[in-house]
Amino acid sequence: MDNKNWKVAVLEGDGIGPDVTHAALFVLDAVKQKFGLNIIYEFGEAGFHCVEKYGTNLPNATLELLKRSDCVIKGPATTPEGTGSIKSLAVQIREMFTLFSNVRPCKSLPNVKSLKPNLDFIVVRENTEGLYSGLEYSLDKNAAVAIRLITREGCDRVCRFAFELAKTRKKHVTLVHKANILKLTDGLFKEVFYNIAKEYPDITADDAHVDAITQWLITKPETFDVLVTENLFGDIISDEAAQIVGGIGVVPGANIGTNYAMFEPIHGSAPKYTGMDKVDPIATILSIKMMLDWMGYKDAGNAVQRAVEKVLTDGKVLTYDLGGTAKCSEMGKEVAKEI
Ligand code: IPM
Ligand code: MG
Repeated sequence: MDNKNWKVAVLEGDGIGPDVTHAALFVLDAVKQKFGLNIIYEFGEAGFHCVEKYGTNLPNATLELLKRSDCVIKGPATTPEGTGSIKSLAVQIREMFTLFSNVRPCKSLPNVKSLKPNLDFIVVRENTEGLYSGLEYSLDKNAAVAIRLITREGCDRVCRFAFELAKTRKKHVTLVHKANILKLTDGLFKEVFYNIAKEYPDITADDAHVDAITQWLITKPETFDVLVTENLFGDIISDEAAQIVGGIGVVPGANIGTNYAMFEPIHGSAPKYTGMDKVDPIATILSIKMMLDWMGYKDAGNAVQRAVEKVLTDGKVLTYDLGGTAKCSEMGKEVAKEI
């Protein structure tokens, strides 16, 4: 195993963010020790709670920290609604560092309610374009328009990512789109997808409309391997997909670009549980597994997965949402102990 020195920024975020992040860092500390990894992490302030103090959810000092780091672990951050309100922290970082693939693995876990047993599929969401481009305008007080930007380059890089991922798995990629209505934007996505598919003759490539996929994720989730789709469709179907394997509390996320990445749970900041040390930290712990995999430390990543599965199988230290009474921090420490 190489001895690269990794610098990781940690943004705890808002609401339950600090709880789940600290629980996950117990696990990272244990893995570092067990595998002798040189991973140094440094905390940065970011999130909605910064707005009053700094006028922004991403202060300059934090941005500088991100730039001198190799990647970032980010807890959930609150994103308010309303004209002129701050832009989502996650979306800003995804754009700034061109983290074009948002990878959300949906895998059944022991003793966690799954719609069918042993599900294992991944949603790969385009992460920099579509309706998240911020191109939204009022025409007059009765009409507004949002632009759904889709570029050949944006489709190309995320589709390639999905095919490369499928190579290491069940060798099946499904494009999720709505090209019957969005003839130009999703038409382009589909054209690029099938062009790239020609470079991967060993991988089955097919496609389906997004509305149909929302049904099939429920009726036949076992038939999927890698689903690739544009930004907003990916946001929506990844929440649905997460519910199918136990909920957004257990599904991690990796936002991956060419030489930078951000790891975050897919759930939100759940403000009502702020400071209660209550919710389960699995999504953030498994996001750290994804970080270790991304760094090339597969053994360490597998150790995290196994430790999570062991704690769930034992069923002795579980948070309330998993049917137990343990605190978030206790569950983090229990997983760390298994490492
Ligand atoms: C997600 C979240 C974010 C998104 C929000 C918090 C801006 O829902 O990561 O899926 O819409 O991308
Ligand atoms: Mg979402």
